[in-house]
Amino acid sequence: MNVLEAIQGRISTRAYLDKPVSRETIRKILDTARWSPSGVNTQPWKVAVVQGEALARLSAALLQLQAEGVAPTPDYSYYPGKWVQPYKGRRFQCGMDLYKALGIGREDKEKRLEAALNNYRFFGAPVSLFFFIDRDLRQGSWLDMGMFIQSVMLAAREFGLDTCPQASTADYPDAVREQLGITAQNLLVCGMAMGYADREHPVNRYRTQREAVDDFCTWHE
Ligand SMILES: Cc1cc2nc3c(=O)[nH]c(=O)nc-3n(C[C@H](O)[C@H](O)[C@H](O)COP(=O)(O)O)c2cc1C
Repeated sequence: MNVLEAIQGRISTRAYLDKPVSRETIRKILDTARWSPSGVNTQPWKVAVVQGEALARLSAALLQLQAEGVAPTPDYSYYPGKWVQPYKGRRFQCGMDLYKALGIGREDKEKRLEAALNNYRFFGAPVSLFFFIDRDLRQGSWLDMGMFIQSVMLAAREFGLDTCPQASTADYPDAVREQLGITAQNLLVCGMAMGYADREHPVNRYRTQREAVDDFCTWHE
C-alpha cells in the first residue's frame, strides 16, 4: 500500500470482526509511528494498548459511569462550547450521514443514544489504544501527538487493520487512568479502536465528504 492509498483509504471504522490482533502486529505499528516528527524531538506520546479482559473491564466501567448519569469530565475541551459556521454545518452533516448509514431516524433518540454508547464498547474492536500526554507540555506537543496518532492509523492500514479515533473514550479520564494504573500527571488525549473491519456492516459502507482544495487553500506566487 502506498502512502496516498493509506491516507485516502482510512475511514473511521465502527464495526469490527471478532478476530484478534497479535501483539507483534501492534508493536510493529507503534514501532513505525514512533518515527513521527515532534518539536525538538520531544516525542510526547505515551500509549496504553488495551485488549482482552482489560478492555472488557474498561468498557464496563465507562458504561456504568454513563448509566449512573455521571457527567463526563474530559481533561480538555475537544470541541467549542458554541458551534459556528462552517463547522456547525459540517458537524450536523457528519451526524446525519452516520445515522443514515445506521438506519436511525432524526427523532429516534433511544437508538441514537445506543449508537453513541457503542463508543464505550469500542465498536466491538478487539484492541483499544489510549494516548496520554504529560500535563506539563504545551499546545505544540498536542500537535505532535496528533501527527503520531495519524501515523498509527496509517501504519495500521499496511497491516490490513482499521481504526476509529475516539475522543468519547476520554470522557472519564480518571476511570481510564485508574484502570490502567496511569498517574494524573498524564492527560488522556483520546482512545482509538483498532481491529479488522467488518466491511459488510452498513456503518462502514459510507464515506464522509471533504471540502475541495480550492475551498481551503490560497496560492501566492
Ligand atoms: C481525535 C478524534 C476523535 C474522534 N472521536 C470520535 C468518537 O469519539 N466517536 C466516533 O464515532 N468518531 C470519532 N471520530 C471520528 C470522526 O467523526 C471522523 O474522523 C470524521 O467524521 C471524518 O470521517 P473519517 O474518519 O471516516 O474520514 C474522531 C476523530 C478524531 C480525529
